Amino acid sequence: MIGLGLWNAKDISVKALEIVRSCDFVYLETYTSRLGCDISEMEELYGKKIILANRELVEGDSDEILKKEKDVAFLIMGDVFAATTHVDLRKRAVLHGIKVVVLHNASVLTAVGETGLELYKFGKTTSIPFENENVLSPVDVLNMNRKNGLHTLFLLDLRPDEDRFMSVKEACEYLLKHTDDYMAVGCAGLGSDAPEIKYAKLSEMEGFSLIPQCLIIPGNLHFMEEESLAGFKK
Ligand SMILES: C[S@@+](CC[C@H](N)C(=O)[O-])C[C@H]1O[C@@H](n2cnc3c(N)ncnc32)[C@H](O)[C@@H]1O
Repeated sequence: MIGLGLWNAKDISVKALEIVRSCDFVYLETYTSRLGCDISEMEELYGKKIILANRELVEGDSDEILKKEKDVAFLIMGDVFAATTHVDLRKRAVLHGIKVVVLHNASVLTAVGETGLELYKFGKTTSIPFENENVLSPVDVLNMNRKNGLHTLFLLDLRPDEDRFMSVKEACEYLLKHTDDYMAVGCAGLGSDAPEIKYAKLSEMEGFSLIPQCLIIPGNLHFMEEESLAGFKK
């Protein structure tokens, strides 16, 4: 199980690259995020054909992957166990008596440190779904984190098969229906050469061009955090 990092084909570690090149089959899960490179770039670098694995294949019919009796690389965008359901795949592999090796990489969960916000001061992470008419759990998480002075990271819904990714703006619109117009940090394309980070009120947050995107509402700020965020003010 190999984390690919956040953006380029070359973000894979040297160790993981050597292992991918030695594997008989290479699967890439396609449903939890999006990298900034084409699959063809990855195939060229790895020298391997990549088999695309959607959610049905990984979570339902994973026997195709687990019964190969050959060396299989399972590629995951970001880090292996960050905000994904891949713990379950590992559990099933172990039940099948398969030796699983995990190779980690960068994740959105740590890349948000680029905003200058202390990673130790993030509370529970939450997701905002596309269908959010009657959904209040992200707001409950925000309120709980704020009560404890902690930062809240919102991961945004995505349907890569439909090329549909929730934008920071959509997330702000959802939150504004339920909360005050807080100062927030919007992030897009973290891990790319030119990540977009903006610090603004929810109502004024706009102007992102890269995907994927995520949103943070800071809790209590240390002066060092305030200084960092000032550099991202619109
Ligand atoms: C379900 S999480 C998958 C996390 C991934 N496994 C990882 O370790 O980074 C996907 C969500 O994280 C956020 N995200 C992922 N990569 C991002 C990036 N490079 N920049 C900004 N947000 C990102 C988006 O909100 C996206 O919808």
